[in-house]
This record gives sequence, structure tokens and C-alpha cells, in this order.
Amino acid sequence: MSAKLKPEPTIFIIFGGTGDLNARKLAPALYNLYLDGWMPKQFSIIGTGRTKLTDEQFRNNLLNDINQFSRSGKTTKAKWEDFSKNIFYQISDAKDHETYKEFGQRIEAHNKEWGVKANVMYYLAVAPEFFPIIASNISKAKLAEDPDKTRIVIEKPFGHDLESAKELNKLLAGIFDEKQIYRIDHYLGKETVQNIMAFRFANSILEPIWNRNYIEHVQISVTEQLGVQDRGPYYEGSGALRDMIQNHLLQLLCFIAMETPISFSADEVRDRKVDVLKAMRKFTPDDVRTSAVRGQYGPGWIEGEEVPGYRQENKVDPNSNTETFAAIKFFVDNWRWHGVPFYVRTGKRMHQTASTITIQFRDVPHLVFPKEATESWQQNRLIISIQPEMSIRLQVQAKRPGIDMVLNTVDMVFDYKGTYTSDAPEAYETLLLDTMMGDQTLFMRGDQVEEAWDLIMPILNMWEAKKSLNFPNYSADSWGPEIAEALIARDGYHWFTLPVNGKKK
Ligand code: BG6
Repeated sequence: MSAKLKPEPTIFIIFGGTGDLNARKLAPALYNLYLDGWMPKQFSIIGTGRTKLTDEQFRNNLLNDINQFSRSGKTTKAKWEDFSKNIFYQISDAKDHETYKEFGQRIEAHNKEWGVKANVMYYLAVAPEFFPIIASNISKAKLAEDPDKTRIVIEKPFGHDLESAKELNKLLAGIFDEKQIYRIDHYLGKETVQNIMAFRFANSILEPIWNRNYIEHVQISVTEQLGVQDRGPYYEGSGALRDMIQNHLLQLLCFIAMETPISFSADEVRDRKVDVLKAMRKFTPDDVRTSAVRGQYGPGWIEGEEVPGYRQENKVDPNSNTETFAAIKFFVDNWRWHGVPFYVRTGKRMHQTASTITIQFRDVPHLVFPKEATESWQQNRLIISIQPEMSIRLQVQAKRPGIDMVLNTVDMVFDYKGTYTSDAPEAYETLLLDTMMGDQTLFMRGDQVEEAWDLIMPILNMWEAKKSLNFPNYSADSWGPEIAEALIARDGYHWFTLPVNGKKK
């Protein structure tokens, strides 16, 4: 890495410093960036929250978290000492102006000590109800005056619906320039997701066939074995549509469907993705009935362990109408994709943890082989496996060795594990480095978030208005409700699954 590519001196102020996200993701990511030489020489991480802690206690907590969650394993004494001297803690009350004055003093002190004006990142790893108050107080304390030196990073969920997302965008726009706002969708930081752009736009062989003439349908499937765990109160107000489809799955769809950007500038890439969202067919009430299905898991067994149904989970309404599964058929109404269905599905407590995108190509125009040769015939498929397996496979027909002409499907595989020896960085490493470098390509722009909300609002509204009468309608460890099979079977297809045993504990 060339030294000039390193970020400038940076101060991270992490709201929600004692929370789960910092423990599991942010602190380990910052530590790994430090290990890999990406952190600037001068940096400071100030965790803040309501709990009373000393710097020492906070450092020890993060040490335990990093030892438990870092992809690089346990820390070494020397590295940890060098890294942790940059960690501080400040007790705070997000509503209290004094808190922000103290941040201001800390920032000043660092600037003085380092002899530079550092970049300041306000990272909001807190519940969404705190976004407005924190942003407003940062502004009142004049802590975001310099648009080139201050940035705000906002976790999802960004809004609860179109209206609230618009309101939040409006409030933020009154305080920050858009170039200061980093709305996180952690899927965009995943190595395999970024690679979709490399795969599509760095290879000339794909573009000619990447359209309705050759592609019959697309499937985007993100299934998880985990249930809602202790996130009942959040999930009750969310559901699969808000939690996964409005953001992660639609972003994956955009990467598959977008036009070629003319450059990799943040706005160019994001413009092309917004184009896709704008071209997506809006749902009428009839479309919701025919093209969107929902489910909720009941109890079951996963790998020998009995697991409760959603309604029996901690702090979940025993009559809850919240969906833990959703499957939707979308269309992108433009020349490239006219008539090509995009089926997306996501669910919790499913049989497998796996995120895959499957592109099914059209069949050959005329079959020249005898029937006996083609008993296991399958149209070509391109499968982009995002996790846990990280691979891209092209399924083609080949002649099975032998005297007879018998065809079967074989995979041409690019597998990360077999190709590269180094570990892929965690999504949060990529995203945190991008915030420090001021690169917004992998972050959601305000209009992108609103377009995505706009698209799903008719489904949300109808599902909220019409309670599902048959919840729970799939058992844990299954592939979701039967209606989801029917949704795709009606068009002559089935949900594709890779034979992997992706587990997630
Ligand atoms: C989060 C959702 O955004 O993504 C969770 O809130 C979900 O419900 C998670 O489990 C999935 O992320 P990943 O990276 O584990 O696929």
C-alpha cells in the first residue's frame, strides 16, 4: 500500500460505544485496519454512551470483544498496547448540550496535540430514534461546520417508511452536505458484493448476453438459519421486508441490473443504481396479492436443537403479524430487462444460511441431442454465491465421459478460497476505511433510500392493513412457506439452492 493512500488523521466518535455493533463489528474492524496498516498515524477512537466507564475499563471491554470477534484472532500484547492507547471513553447523554461541548474540547485537544485539523467521524451506532437528536446537537454545538473535515455515519434502519426516511433526509440535509452523510448498508461492503461490479464491468464477454435476450430470470435469495434472537422489540416493528428487502436485497438487485457506469465515481455508480430503482415496476394492490408473499416461522428443530417459533421468541407479541420471510417477484421496466422476472426471497430460521444470486439463461433455441442424452438437461446458470461460500460458478452442459452421448451439468468455478490465500476483509473494514478516505461509492445516497422505500410501500401498507390469517406458515429448518414455492412455480421455475451447509450460530 502506498503511504499517500492512507487516510488523514481521524477522530472517530462512536455513539453507542458500549453497544453490540461496536463490540462485534466496529472495534474489530478498526483493529484489523490498524493491523493491515490502513489506519492513519494519528487517530483516536472515542466511544460514548450512558454507562459510566473509565478509559481503561472501556479498553478492556473492547479487548475482550476484539479477541472474541476479530477475524484475525486474538490480539498480541504489543499490537494491542499500541492500538489501544488511541481509545478513549466519554460518558454522555445524547440530549445534553454539555456532552457535545466536551466532544468539541476533545477534538480541539487532539488537533492541538497532532498539529493538524483532523477529520471527525460521528458514527451513530444507536437506535434510530436517536438519529435526529444527535445530528441536531452536533449542529448546535457547531461540530460539523467544516464539510471537508466532518462526516456522519448512519446505521440502518434509515427510516421506518417513505415518510420518515424523507423527514430524516430533510433534517440531515439542513445540517450536513450530502457528501458528509454516509448511510450504511453493510451488504455493500461485502467482498463478493463488490466483486459483482468487477465481474460485470471488467469482463467483455458478459455485456452482450446481460439482457432480456439471453437471461430468462434472476433469483436473489438471502436465507438465514438464525431466528430473531434477542432482537424481538426491533424486529416486531420491522419484519423481513423492512429489515432485508428494502435495503440489502434491493441493493443486490441494483448491482445485477444497473447499466455500465462511465466511471467509478461515487455519484456515477449511485446514479446508475437509482436508475434501476426508478425503472422497477410499482405495485398495484393486485400485484401485491399475486407477486408478494410473506411467512412467519413456527417452532422446529435445527441441527438437533429445538428452537421456538417467532411468536414464542423473547419480547415478541404471541399473536404477532410480523413477517419473518418474504418473497417478491419484481420487474425492471427498461429495454435491458423488459419481461425478465427478478425473484427475491429472504427469511429467518430457514434450512440454510446462504446468500446467492442466480441468473438463469434462456434455453438453447433447438435441441439437437436425442432424448436419452438430455435427461438431466438444465439451462445455463450463473450463480454468484455471496456467503458463506464465496464463489462464482457457471453451470454448463458437458458430455459425460463414455461411449454414449449423455449430457450432464458441470460447474466452472471461481472460488475465493482456492484462488486467494489472504482473507477477505470484513464488510465493516471496507466501509470504515471508505468513510475515512471520503469515498461514498458503497454508501446509500438519500434519493436511493427514498426510491427503495417508495417501491416497497404498497406491499408494506397492504401487509399491515391485512393481517395474515395463517401465521406461522413455515416451520424452522424449512425453505419457507409453500406459497413462496407457488410464486415461482407458477412461472415454471423453482428456487435454486447451492448444496452447501452454511451454518451460523
Ligand atoms: C441485518 C439485519 O441488516 O443483516 C439482520 O438487520 C440480518 O436481521 C443481517 O440478520 C444479515 O447480515 P449478514 O451479513 O449476516 O448476512
